[in-house]
Amino acid sequence: MRPSTALLTLCYLVPLVVASPLDVYQRNSISIPLSRMSRDTTIEDVKAHLTTVSYKYDVTSRNYALNTGSPHSLSNRGPPYKLGERSTGSLTGDGNSVPLKNQSVNLWYGSIAVGEPPESFTVQIDTGSADLFLCSVRSGLSCAGHREYNATSSATSLDLNTSFVVKYGNRTEVSGDEYTDVVELAGYKAINQTLAVTDTYYSDFAASNAPDGLAGFAFQEISSYGAAPLFQTLCDSHVLHKNVFGLSLSTQKDKSELRVGGSNPSMYEPDTLTIVPVTVKGYWQIQLDGLSRNGEDMMVPTDKAQAIVDTGTALIVTKPENAVKYYENIKGARAVDEIWTVPCDTIGLFAPTLTFGGQLFPVSSSTFNLGPVHEGSTDCIAGLTGMPGIGEHWIIGDVFLQNVYTIFDVGNTEVGFARLKL
Ligand SMILES: *[C@@H]1O[C@H](CO)[C@@H](O)[C@H](O)[C@H]1NC(C)=O
Ligand SMILES: *[C@@H]1O[C@H](CO)[C@@H](O)[C@H](O)[C@H]1NC(C)=O
Ligand SMILES: *[C@@H]1O[C@H](CO)[C@@H](O)[C@H](O)[C@H]1NC(C)=O
Ligand SMILES: *[C@@H]1O[C@H](CO)[C@@H](O)[C@H](O)[C@H]1NC(C)=O
Ligand SMILES: *[C@@H]1O[C@H](CO)[C@@H](O)[C@H](O)[C@H]1NC(C)=O
Repeated sequence: MRPSTALLTLCYLVPLVVASPLDVYQRNSISIPLSRMSRDTTIEDVKAHLTTVSYKYDVTSRNYALNTGSPHSLSNRGPPYKLGERSTGSLTGDGNSVPLKNQSVNLWYGSIAVGEPPESFTVQIDTGSADLFLCSVRSGLSCAGHREYNATSSATSLDLNTSFVVKYGNRTEVSGDEYTDVVELAGYKAINQTLAVTDTYYSDFAASNAPDGLAGFAFQEISSYGAAPLFQTLCDSHVLHKNVFGLSLSTQKDKSELRVGGSNPSMYEPDTLTIVPVTVKGYWQIQLDGLSRNGEDMMVPTDKAQAIVDTGTALIVTKPENAVKYYENIKGARAVDEIWTVPCDTIGLFAPTLTFGGQLFPVSSSTFNLGPVHEGSTDCIAGLTGMPGIGEHWIIGDVFLQNVYTIFDVGNTEVGFARLKL
């Protein structure tokens, strides 16, 4: 019995819940259930996922520089992309191609409703980006199997007559046109929310069982089209009790949710709640105080170590040198293209503990172990990996986030972590 495999094959659908306006007034905050699309994870899946993650950080860190006029410490990497021009590329174009694959790792999604009359869409909840993307009815085959946004059938839609292109390397990843429309999240309405309606679809979402779109929950500073992200629009319209959202990405069935307008204290241990300020507003970027393995420090404490809290990344990602140091002295540990494997019978001993705001947050053995390299293998994929070009940044993804309740406080620009109530 491999608990991690059971976890990774967990795939359940939650019925759509649309809160009525009455609920909004009766409660302080509203939760929507989240689901996770997943199946067995292979090294190839992790590689494809990390390629996408790397491109996402290329694009979003460049957006930060463009939007704020000062470079982000992640900015000096990767090839250029262009805004405001029609796409000439295609998914089959040459160059830095991202493999067209089912994303089988880490895809948390929930439902939103868009337009008038409202149509429901499933969207990936991504705290590592800031834009809202939906597929267009004009998209043709690349959106097959997904709900598509039809601007002409929504009474509240407005065409901004602006096109956009997001390039991954020199290949067009998505392109399309900007609209505004009413977007409802957990019963709260974001009026005139900017939407990127894509003619080509994100390759990660090509699988017909993937969500219909992507909703970024980071700050406007990293937006590709310089518009308020969905949650910011809700904050700006003063409809929320608190300008806060809370996330539980639990390994337990039916315990994953996005809470809008507050946190859900019934899901975490309040005495472990630790609040840390966002250091650079763009990503959910905070100071990482330390990282240990079996009580042994694995990271020299430095005020340069920055953690980016990213629900759209499956693993804990650091520069390759740090990963090498982390797996040093672990018998049988080896790297395949920066992705580390450890013998399955001992991997559980080597899960990291992260320190934020002076509080220790252990990663469980089962979330650290992504399962055997291939069926029957005695080596398992480990949840901490190297990535070139990210300097002193640590991307803190699902492997960590499944162990905590996370509070994203937009009003006070801070992050709270608490241990999940079991
Ligand atoms: C795209 O980028 C790759 C790698 O950087 C390069 O080999 C290729 O020639 C580029 N293609 C175009 C059309 O610029
Ligand atoms: C995605 O996975 C499903 C089921 O495993 C498979 O039928 C489909 O062909 C895959 N699609 C791609 C693009 O790999
Ligand atoms: C979009 O909506 C319009 C108006 O309801 C309808 O006439 C048209 O057929 C729809 N387009 C598609 C591709 O469904
Ligand atoms: C976009 O163009 C259409 C048609 O010309 C026009 O009706 C609409 O008002 C324009 N939208 C904006 C935001 O200017
Ligand atoms: C939304 O946009 C429309 C058209 O530009 C405008 O009349 C309306 O006041 C806007 N509403 C809000 C809440 O911003």
